[in-house]
Amino acid sequence: MQIAVLKERKPGESRVAATPDSAKRLIGLGFEVVVETGAGEGASFADAQYRDAGATLVKTADEALKAADIVLKVQPPIVEPAGAAEVGKMKKGAILIGMLSALTEPKIARACAEAGLTAFAMELLPRITRAQSMDVLSSQANLAGYKSVLDAAGEFGRAFPMMMTAAGTIPPAKVLVLGCGVAGLQAIATARRLGAVVFGYDVRAASKQEVESLGAKFVEVDPEAAGAAQTAGGYAKEMGEDYGKKQAAVLADALKKQDIAICTALIPGKAAPRLITKEMVAAMKPGSVIVDLAVEAGGNCELSELDKVVVKHGVKIVGHGNVPSRLAQDASMLYARNLFNFVKLITDPKEKTLKIDWEDEIVNGALATRDGSVVHPRLKGA
Ligand code: NAI
Repeated sequence: MQIAVLKERKPGESRVAATPDSAKRLIGLGFEVVVETGAGEGASFADAQYRDAGATLVKTADEALKAADIVLKVQPPIVEPAGAAEVGKMKKGAILIGMLSALTEPKIARACAEAGLTAFAMELLPRITRAQSMDVLSSQANLAGYKSVLDAAGEFGRAFPMMMTAAGTIPPAKVLVLGCGVAGLQAIATARRLGAVVFGYDVRAASKQEVESLGAKFVEVDPEAAGAAQTAGGYAKEMGEDYGKKQAAVLADALKKQDIAICTALIPGKAAPRLITKEMVAAMKPGSVIVDLAVEAGGNCELSELDKVVVKHGVKIVGHGNVPSRLAQDASMLYARNLFNFVKLITDPKEKTLKIDWEDEIVNGALATRDGSVVHPRLKGA
C-alpha cells in the first residue's frame, strides 16, 4: 500500500501534509511513503530528512500519484482542467485525505466523485472527544490565534505590557478578541502573556466561562439569546436582526476604548458575521490595529482586505490569508500528526492493510465522496 505526499501548489501555501516524523510513523503502519521532491521545503523539512525517515522521493506529482492508494494533502486538490488536474492523476478508488473546502467550494467534492476517489474532508470531522487528535481545524486555528496577536504586536506602534520607567509609565495595551473559539482563546492567552489587558466576546454563552478562566473580561451582549446561540455540534448559529442591533451597540462602545481587535468569528460554511462596520473603525483611536482572521470568509470587519495590510481612518487593518501557513513548520507538524492519526484509524495494524469501519462516526463524518458520488449529507445537492 502506497501513500503519496505532494508539494502544495496553491500560492502562499507553505505547509506540507506529512513531515519526516509522520512519514516514519506511516511506514511503521505498513505503508510505503512516496514524497514529491521539495514537498517539505516551505515548512523547512528537507528531502534528505524524508529519505532518512524511509520515504521514497520522486521528482513529479504525476510519479507520486500514479500508484498511490492514499494521497495526503493540505489544500484541496487542483480540479481543473479535467485530466491535467491533480484529481485526474489519482488512481480510481484512491483515498484522498485533506482539507477540501467541501462546504464552500462544492466543485471540489464533485470532481473527486467524478474521478472515483474516496475523499475525506478533514474540516468536516465531528468535534467529538475521540476525534481530538485528528482535529485539523483546532490544530491550525490554535496557531492562527497565536500568530494573529504577534501580527498585531508587529503593526502596533506601542508596547503591550505596562512599563514603569524613569521617563514615565506606559499603560498596557487593551485587546478585544471577537469570537472566542479555538483561535480566539489562544489569542486571549497570547495577548495576556504579552501583558495586555484583554476582553473577549462571543455569541455562545459557554464561552464566557472559558474567557474568564484565561483572565480576560467577557463583553456581554444579550445573555438570554446567547443561551440558544449554539448548535448541537458546538458551533455558533447565525443570529437574528434584534441580536445584531444589540451586538452593534455594545461593540461600537467597546471598540472605542480598545487598542487592538482580533477578529476570529466564523459560522461554518457561511459568510463570516460582520461585527465591525466602517463607522466603528472610524471611531477607534488612531494607531489602533485590527487583525481579521475571518478575512477569507468575507471578514468580520467591513474594511479588511484579503492578503493586505491597509490603513483606514488611522487604524491598521491586517488581512493576512492562510495564517497557519505563516507558522508552516509547527502547523505542518500538527497537521501531519492529525492525518497520521486518521490513517491509523482506517488501518489494521496487525494485518498492515486498510480496514475502514464505514459506520464509525469519525469516518462517516469526514467522508465526502465514495463510489463516484458525493455522499456527505451536508454536501448533497450542493
Ligand atoms: P469557529 O471557528 O467556527 O468560530 C470561531 C468562534 O466565533 C466561535 O467561538 C463562534 O461561537 C464565534 N462566533 C460566531 N459568530 C459570532 C458572532 N456573531 N459574534 C461573536 N462570535 C461569533 O469555531 P471553533 O473555534 O472551530 O470552535 C467551535 C466549537 O467547537 C467551540 O464550541 C469549541 O469549543 C468546540 N470544540 C470542541 C472540541 C472538542 O473536542 N470537544 C474541539 C475543538 C472545538
